[in-house]
Amino acid sequence: MAAKRILLGITGGIAAYKSAELVRLLKKAGHSVRVVMTRGAEAFVTPLTFQALSGEPVRTSLLDPEAESGMGHIELAKWADQVVIAPASADFIARLAQGMADDLLTTLCCATEAPIAIAPAMNQAMWGNNRTQRNIRLLQEDSQICLWGPDQGQQACGDTGPGRMLEPAELVGLINHDRSQGPLAGKQVIITAGPTREPIDPVRYISNHSSGKMGYALAAAAHDAGADVILVSGPVNIPVPAGVEVRHASTAEDMLRESSAAVDAGCDLFVASAAVADYRPETCVGDKIKKSSDQMSLSLVRNPDTLATIAAREDAPFTVGFAAETSDVAHYATEKMQRKKLRMIVANDVSTPGLGFNSENNAVTVFWSDGQESIGPDSKQQIAARLVALIAEHLERAGC
Ligand code: PMT
Repeated sequence: MAAKRILLGITGGIAAYKSAELVRLLKKAGHSVRVVMTRGAEAFVTPLTFQALSGEPVRTSLLDPEAESGMGHIELAKWADQVVIAPASADFIARLAQGMADDLLTTLCCATEAPIAIAPAMNQAMWGNNRTQRNIRLLQEDSQICLWGPDQGQQACGDTGPGRMLEPAELVGLINHDRSQGPLAGKQVIITAGPTREPIDPVRYISNHSSGKMGYALAAAAHDAGADVILVSGPVNIPVPAGVEVRHASTAEDMLRESSAAVDAGCDLFVASAAVADYRPETCVGDKIKKSSDQMSLSLVRNPDTLATIAAREDAPFTVGFAAETSDVAHYATEKMQRKKLRMIVANDVSTPGLGFNSENNAVTVFWSDGQESIGPDSKQQIAARLVALIAEHLERAGC
């Protein structure tokens, strides 16, 4: 594990007392730590504690003439390999989401190019509040920012629920996580996700219930495993995982074009989790179709198959497909794997309520030429983590 230069921001909340243990553990793990405290934080814990633990002066003010004689805040922003804000209060989260720079910590967050991780800590009602959640969504759309926690449980005010800061040891585990040692380190990975929309007229389309959650969880897991990840995504309403590049595709034809262009630029592993419409209307009329008779029929034509096209390339990457089935799952999935010339296929039985399409959880069986493994039921994040580990094993075995 490489020693890092950690800039720890502490904001005003009772969980600030845990930040002392966090500094101690970070120093023990060999990291350099510099601490910046907001005025709110100083009401809970003293700079002296953090100076003693970090062995560095603690900064509290943006307009400190002595520290700023050499543009101290810019020097500090450039020094950091990783910024961690723990605890991050609702107020700090709101100011960060707005891009404010009205104290030293928010200014550093604007000035740094290092990744910023925030560990929220607040009362469960404050965490659940619409405005806090809106700010969190804004931050999740920012690829520089990563959300660590919060945890659930008993709170200092007596409430129970989400809003507890992750424990210092958990935060150290996340800081120590070294992508460069992950099983997909250095690999170019392309993942398709979400539905496609095939236009009928300017206001209507054919689509399906895919939310993109499975594919986005896979992208996050592949990124955590060290890969450079491009998500080719249909229209969805969920945030792009930190560090992942997204290319938007609305129709099946867009999906093929964007995927092929991404593969042209270099790809070691292609995973197709998108629910691509097999057919599209033969024509998309320019004006909204009017009600005229009691029945109408649409003429549909076959869409291009992105997965099969990528797998058939001379320079095909290691290609993994999904198969969403409602019956005879193993039979149809393995048939698809052979017909589309895939290395592996993830069979998804989408007939069980609460699993598969547009849900938080899933259960899958992965097939390859001479084996299989069932994963779940579990959260899509857990399924994605195991899938990535399994695919990485096979990728290595294939010498790709
Ligand atoms: O998005 P979520 O709500 O999280 O739901 C996840 C999921 C159920 C969509 C996902 O787990 C899943 O099963 N994805 C595959 C859905 C699908 O369209 O399966 P299929 O059996 O029709 O297609 C087989 C494979 O060919 C898939 O990898 C698909 O991406 C690919 N394909 C299909 C048609 C086409 N024109 N182009 C393709 O690339």
